[in-house]
Amino acid sequence: MTKSPTPVILCSHGSTMMLGEDSSAGRYWEAVGREAMARNVEGVVFMGAHWEVSGAGVEISSNPGRDAVVKQPVAWVTPDKYVDYEINSSPELAERVQTLLTDAGIEAKLNPKLEWIHDVFLVLNWMFPKSSPPVTVISTNAYYDPYLHTAIGAAVRPLRYQNILIVGTGGTVHNLYRNAWDNIILHRDNFAQTRPPQQWALDFRNETLDAFTKNSGPALRRAAMRLMRHPLFRDAHGTDDHYAPVLFCAGAAGDQDDVGTKNTSPAEVWELEQMCNTQFQMGEWAPIKA
Ligand SMILES: [Fe+2]
Repeated sequence: MTKSPTPVILCSHGSTMMLGEDSSAGRYWEAVGREAMARNVEGVVFMGAHWEVSGAGVEISSNPGRDAVVKQPVAWVTPDKYVDYEINSSPELAERVQTLLTDAGIEAKLNPKLEWIHDVFLVLNWMFPKSSPPVTVISTNAYYDPYLHTAIGAAVRPLRYQNILIVGTGGTVHNLYRNAWDNIILHRDNFAQTRPPQQWALDFRNETLDAFTKNSGPALRRAAMRLMRHPLFRDAHGTDDHYAPVLFCAGAAGDQDDVGTKNTSPAEVWELEQMCNTQFQMGEWAPIKA
């Protein structure tokens, strides 16, 4: 147990091309990895946007080690950016997460056969390019109940005091139906901005920024859940999947003990004209002991 909890990292992962293209977001993920390694972080617990399960609860990836991880192909990344990346999947960490969720009354099953998806390994590759600490992923639940996903974050929050990093990988303004796809399809250019973002995208981006940087503690959880009822939510999120990890992060960073925490947005990048990949960090890294 440590006195200072690890910060909670909310990654808006954007398109698949974010894997190989340089951006302020990628540089921020890289910096998170450096900070984590400098403190010998002992594990990373993700919630990703791309793995949802039906039924009442969630699943937790427990692939038995690096050799048991199958990764899905990634669209649009040019072959010169391909790297062999081994995922340090940890069944032990998965079991710790399962215990916390079960103790909180949340149904949670281990899944040793998860096919890992770019929402997680894109971020992992930036954070820990050589090798990552032990890692596991919590699925979302396909009903996308805001209270459940916030409660999942709250349930794993104690891991922040055990030198484990909690990361949500989803999106803040992420509506694939509204993106401009022509430049990525024709020219593999994900950052082309031939027109300014539309007003709904700018407005919801600002709402998210306010919610996450001007609130802390339980107010942060309430603000994150409230955004799902915002009149522009459905414009910014054609589906709920990329918002679930946002709620998860608010749950992990929104306890009474988090009141007054410094919550910041260290990086942001727009893609496909209408998709805003805002990054958030809730809490600060503890000073490194000399
Ligand atoms: Fe995604």
